[in-house]
Amino acid sequence: MTLLPFQRPLGRTGLMVSPIGLGTVKLGRNQGLKHPQPFELPSRKEAEYLLDCAHDLGINFIDTAAAYGSSEARLGELLQGRQQDWIVCTKAGEEFEAGQSRFDFTPEHMRASVERSLRRLRRDYLDLVLIHSDGNDEDLLHRYGTVQALAELKQEGLIRACGVSSKTLDGGLLLAQYADALMVACNPHERDQIPVIEACQSLGTGVLIKKALASGHLCTDAPEDTDPVQTSLNFLFAQPGVDSVVIGTLNPTHLRDNVAKALVALESKP
Ligand SMILES: NC(=O)c1ccc[n+]([C@@H]2O[C@H](COP(=O)([O-])OP(=O)(O)OC[C@H]3O[C@@H](n4cnc5c(N)ncnc54)[C@H](OP(=O)(O)O)[C@@H]3O)[C@@H](O)[C@H]2O)c1
Repeated sequence: MTLLPFQRPLGRTGLMVSPIGLGTVKLGRNQGLKHPQPFELPSRKEAEYLLDCAHDLGINFIDTAAAYGSSEARLGELLQGRQQDWIVCTKAGEEFEAGQSRFDFTPEHMRASVERSLRRLRRDYLDLVLIHSDGNDEDLLHRYGTVQALAELKQEGLIRACGVSSKTLDGGLLLAQYADALMVACNPHERDQIPVIEACQSLGTGVLIKKALASGHLCTDAPEDTDPVQTSLNFLFAQPGVDSVVIGTLNPTHLRDNVAKALVALESKP
């Protein structure tokens, strides 16, 4: 089995994260997603095995969200007693109910969402909380005061680090100045967030990558003689400033493949 040999600082958060993180939307939700194929939620045994594999491979970073169905609650149960092995990032601001998303970025909702995540994840504090943006990134600072609300929860000790899973170029550039970490979508076919990654690097803001495989479409749409996972990881790890690439998978073989290819990319980094 290939082991990720090292963890890296996530910006200036003080958190040390593996270069590959495990995305867990598929652990708790199978509706309203952009993945190429429908899928069943994993059984407890399958989920346990996936997390054991991730741990054995050297992954210590897990990404979830309040809006990922049962993902937070399942992680709370599965990681009980071994929480010190994992850095868990969750998100607040999006709710997914009866197959529909709705957003609430008020400070009151942020507090209620964080308190619920603490209960679901069975933690005394959350390592990292990101605002789950709906695409109106600037409003999170200027209209709702959501960024400020999370900073207050951090001051109170409920959160160690906070930031935004942002969507736009201008919003990302603005929020990079206030966040401990941003999560941005990036892959060889979707490069518009590169200036945000560069801004984060110069500010010391942590960078997490989502949709490294375009939610799986890079793999299903790729010609047979190409290796889209290697191509994407080579591209992403060549960007200075990328701290961890969060890839979603329920498949232990894919997880091993992603880690092995991350190692190749990191070793051949210019
Ligand atoms: N707004 C937000 O904050 C936001 C949005 C999107 C995603 N995210 C986070 O980022 C994570 C990843 O995003 P994502 O799931 O949309 O996209 P992704 O990581 O680009 O792709 C995940 C898809 O790729 C497949 N896959 C993974 N490794 C593979 C491999 N080696 N070979 C072939 N297929 C492979 C997975 O299927 P298998 O299960 O079959 O491996 C899964 O369907 C999410 O889980 C979530 O934590 C956040």
